[in-house]
Amino acid sequence: MITKPKGTYDVLPDEVKAWTKLESIIRRICQIYNYKEIRTPIFESSRVFHRDASDTSDMVTKETYDFLDRSNRQITLRPEGTAGVVRAFIENKLYAQSPMQKLFYLGQMFRYERPQKGRNRQFNQFGVEALGSADPLIDAEVIALGTSLIKGLGLKNVKVKINSIGDKESREAYKKACVAYFSQYKDELCGDCLTRLEKNPLRILDCKVDRHKEFFLKAPKIKDYLNESSLSHFETVLKALDEMKIVYEIEDNLVRGLDYYSHTVFELEVDIPEFGAQNVIGAGGRYDTLVSDMEGPDIPGVGMAFGMERLLLAAEFANKSLGKPDYLHVYFIALGEAAKKACLTQMNICRLGGLYCDMDYLSRGLKAQFKTADQNHAMFTCILGDNELEEFKINIKNNETEEQETISIYDVYPYVLNKINAKSACAGCKEKEVKE
Ligand code: HAM
Repeated sequence: MITKPKGTYDVLPDEVKAWTKLESIIRRICQIYNYKEIRTPIFESSRVFHRDASDTSDMVTKETYDFLDRSNRQITLRPEGTAGVVRAFIENKLYAQSPMQKLFYLGQMFRYERPQKGRNRQFNQFGVEALGSADPLIDAEVIALGTSLIKGLGLKNVKVKINSIGDKESREAYKKACVAYFSQYKDELCGDCLTRLEKNPLRILDCKVDRHKEFFLKAPKIKDYLNESSLSHFETVLKALDEMKIVYEIEDNLVRGLDYYSHTVFELEVDIPEFGAQNVIGAGGRYDTLVSDMEGPDIPGVGMAFGMERLLLAAEFANKSLGKPDYLHVYFIALGEAAKKACLTQMNICRLGGLYCDMDYLSRGLKAQFKTADQNHAMFTCILGDNELEEFKINIKNNETEEQETISIYDVYPYVLNKINAKSACAGCKEKEVKE
């Protein structure tokens, strides 16, 4: 049997509803916050992601799917959305169209990671990127958008963890302090951290292996190295969050796994024990030099991305079912060849009128066809045998009330339409009654 590649999964028909519902909640929130959709290629020239030999992030050094295409071009499947969006922003000169671009994207990303619950090799992200402003208030807006999504999904127990890694000057001062401090513990650092000590000492703080060691807790904190403007940026973000009543925790050791960040960095964490290390459902930060590092103009940016699989898992744990099961308005049960043809004609009339319908094409018995009607959550079942057909009649059953009637075969469409309209009008009355 040919099977799917490790770390990938199929979204089966029953599961697709939850995905489309999540996507529609996301699109609505992006409209509320005025972020416009952008779609960039799933593969890019490797230079988009492998920009700098000094990059120590796991994602760039160990996890990308890199290959040569048939013309020997070095290609990478996108491991994240930000760099591709920035490439498109520069290449299409979006900054010339408007000084502020607020963009969002949905799509598959690829990382060669060890698969486990909530961690896949092909996964989906929803991300936003606000390009053009260095204002700390837009950092707060991005976080607010993230918390709106959490609320929209009905998720509770989500923590916003935030930190500032300051501007370049602050980070240089902090890096020096880190090198001096961690050099004393070279024997205790893991292999990755020894490389980081040379290339990017800040990232030692992000180490999953060394994080719990005694000397780690006493390491210098970046907040003590922020210069005045970095401190003021961070304070303005926090104040804006306070004003918007967004609860957060300052996490001194939060530096994030990607090398392009400056100033604000944050993560949204769910408190679900079953998630283990995969409890970060969304994360982001400011990246003031990424556009210029990618040979674009000097334009700052800030953004975040959510793992959509993790959002769906979190919704499932919170018992928030996303998306009702699909249903049919009418399922036609035909008994006999002539009845089948007549059902097809009536079903076509219903379908042209916009009703969701289906029928059996397997010439099965009554019981099997009733079962399929049930599995399809049919609101009405029409049953037609050769006897009824002779009189141009059809039996129609309301599956909710169990009421059954015999009507003219030509009346199926108006009959169902009337019943559906009456039902929705009635639901509207009840809603009104409750409100009053
Ligand atoms: P990231 O933290 O690498 O940031 O990924 C963002 C989110 O994607 C994670 O919080 C997680 O929910 C999800 N995720 C990451 N890897 C996997 C995986 N292997 N399987 C399932 N879900 C995963 C970024 O990607 C940045 N581009 C975010 C950003 C946007 N920063 C600024 N703008």
